[in-house]
Amino acid sequence: MENRIFIFDTTLRDGEQSPGCSMNIEEKLRLARQLQLLSVDVIEAGFPIASVGDFEAVKLVAEKIKSCTVAALARTVKLDIDRAWEAIQGAEKPRIHTFIATSDLHLKYKLKKSREQVLQDAVWAVQYAKSLCEEVEFSCEDASRTNIDYLCAVVEATINAGATIINLPDTVGYAIPDEYGAMFRMVRERVPNIDKAILSSHCHNDLGLAVANSIAAVQNGVRQVECTLNGIGERAGNASLEEIAMAIKTRHEKLGLRTNIDTEEIYKSSKLLSSLTGMMVQRNKAIVGANAFAHEAGIHQDGVLKSPITYEIMTPQSVGIKHTMLVLGKHSGRHALKQRYTELGYTLSDEELQRAYKLFCEIADQKKELFDEDLEAILETSSDAAEEVYQLTNIQIVTGTNLRPTATIELKYGDQMIVDSATGDGPVDAAYKAIERITGVIGKLTEYSIKSVSLGHDAIGEVFVRVDFDGLLYNGRAASTDILAGSARAYLEALNRAMASKKRKEEQQKLTLSKDGVTV
Ligand code: KIV
Ligand code: ZN
Repeated sequence: MENRIFIFDTTLRDGEQSPGCSMNIEEKLRLARQLQLLSVDVIEAGFPIASVGDFEAVKLVAEKIKSCTVAALARTVKLDIDRAWEAIQGAEKPRIHTFIATSDLHLKYKLKKSREQVLQDAVWAVQYAKSLCEEVEFSCEDASRTNIDYLCAVVEATINAGATIINLPDTVGYAIPDEYGAMFRMVRERVPNIDKAILSSHCHNDLGLAVANSIAAVQNGVRQVECTLNGIGERAGNASLEEIAMAIKTRHEKLGLRTNIDTEEIYKSSKLLSSLTGMMVQRNKAIVGANAFAHEAGIHQDGVLKSPITYEIMTPQSVGIKHTMLVLGKHSGRHALKQRYTELGYTLSDEELQRAYKLFCEIADQKKELFDEDLEAILETSSDAAEEVYQLTNIQIVTGTNLRPTATIELKYGDQMIVDSATGDGPVDAAYKAIERITGVIGKLTEYSIKSVSLGHDAIGEVFVRVDFDGLLYNGRAASTDILAGSARAYLEALNRAMASKKRKEEQQKLTLSKDGVTV
């Protein structure tokens, strides 16, 4: 049997639909490009019928991504399948992924359909999808809680209908590895045409077993694994891509399997996702957490110094962590900064370097030593910075246990400097109210998080905000040693994005009107 495992990344679909993980269209494309560098085999780009935004994002990813298969999800109904196909037909390698639940529980309470009806729907959907797209994947939602005889009947029928990838998810994260592996073994033993399809696993992490279940699946003949970066996804998340890829690589002698993942791109991919969504991974997260390769106990440090293999089963370099104790400071020039970014694996355009260098100089003025983590935070916050319609030039906050927090903010708008003050429930609230007074733009803060990038009292704080302006959500990020200035900058970035997108829409509208012959 082929020992190559295909990695199907669903960060942009199952991952993105979970709370706190949403991305806008440009962010989705950025992540898809990184997934391409990571060399995943399939990118599930979204669920096009879910919304216009989802459709547009899948279409854009399908147009731009060349070396990975781009999949779109659809229920077993014509409307969904047509919309999915419309979104991905421009892809180099398109795939329609259609699904229906097969467990009696779902049939009775959710679908209110008989087993026979569901079987018919599944066969019809696969045949219809196949009439549009060469590659069709079919999923039996809640497969791990489905009657095995019925499951085998559905698998056989959908393969006959044209599906070449059959996915059997543990939708609710209920299975344990033994059981999940046995399900695949039984399907392989009982379904006569099973050799015409690749079996796929898709595990959720409700019992913390998603990766273990995925490994049990590949040990039982599964050759496609569905997973997400950082394990993001519904509820407790999906199986984590980086953990699966590194388990397969590190335990090659035991599993005898391989993936095509460029593991040195793992760390960068994980960081990008965290920075786009504001969803950070915990310090002790396997593979990509800040402590994943840190040896604290004296006995371990001693061992690692004598020989890394005493306590290190894989190297940080193998997942793309290139950190050293090399320090840059305010006397380091643009060239040194560029050089360090290259060593860390980032190729910067002149414009990106310019933006990063500007922020580097601001921070180096307040912080004597900048470490690799700081440089990464600088890059993340400066690389997709919005056009600065409003720019923070000054911030002064007065606060205390018995004082009402007051913020005075000065913003540059074109050639004007505008100053105003406001009070608030806390210093950040006061700053945001002052910004509102100056700009006249009302936003509703829906998410706010702050994380210390490195250690020490002068560590950089990375602020992430998500703000609702007129019903649309915009993200903002900032890195600063002053968390209040960082909070104000992150908010302003979201506001600047909202203003830029409003301007773009107005310009488009004018263009459409003038094309239609209406004077504007
Ligand atoms: O968890 C699940 O069952 C899914 C399917 C739609 C593949 O995400
Ligand atoms: Zn799922």
